[in-house]
Amino acid sequence: MTRKRVGVLISGRGSNLQALINACKKRDYPAEIVLVISNVPQAPGLLRAEAALIPTLTINHKDFPTREAFDAALDAALNGTQVELLCNAGFLRLHTPGFVERWRDRHLNIHPSLLPAFRGLHTHERVMAAGCKISGCTVHFVRPEMDEGPIVAQAAVPVLAGDTAETLAARVLEAEHHLYPHALALVASGAVFVKGERVCDSNKQAQIPLFSPPLA
Ligand code: GRF
Repeated sequence: MTRKRVGVLISGRGSNLQALINACKKRDYPAEIVLVISNVPQAPGLLRAEAALIPTLTINHKDFPTREAFDAALDAALNGTQVELLCNAGFLRLHTPGFVERWRDRHLNIHPSLLPAFRGLHTHERVMAAGCKISGCTVHFVRPEMDEGPIVAQAAVPVLAGDTAETLAARVLEAEHHLYPHALALVASGAVFVKGERVCDSNKQAQIPLFSPPLA
């Protein structure tokens, strides 16, 4: 089995990166992480990559005069390592349209809501304020607009009485750690593809499983 060469972009703690690292340790997983790039120096996630002996790079956006120049540096590093698929995992920079176009349908992001609801920041606070009874997370292909693009997979979790934004965030994060490796495997194995801005199954029968941790 040839594994897809994956690059991961992070800005912070890297718990989703860790979930992907763990998945890639499995012999039959269709992807391997060949490079982790952080735009934030000393992001804790870099230590997770180093512990797994994965090459890391810091490309600090503050060192570049424009967003285009920063994205060009990302591109050069990714291409220099023959990255085939790119995963944003808590990467807190918006990409330029040119970068998004170059990585079109090869570039995933995870967002802690059931998109298209609750794009953007402070997701869990807004979910709570809206009185939602269910929340979750989404892995989608990246498009120029933030948190927009064809949906690969989603996981749902309950919003429980007594939840705070923090307890809900922790429950969603646990689901994220299941969902991202699952979604990357679907893409890396070629089981899904984008058609007309929707994600389709190549075998036209498999439903993408929904991960719903049991009600507490
Ligand atoms: C996750 O909640 C992810 O959905 C969002 O940013 C957070 C990153 O967390 N895009 P981590 O760095 O993976 O722990």
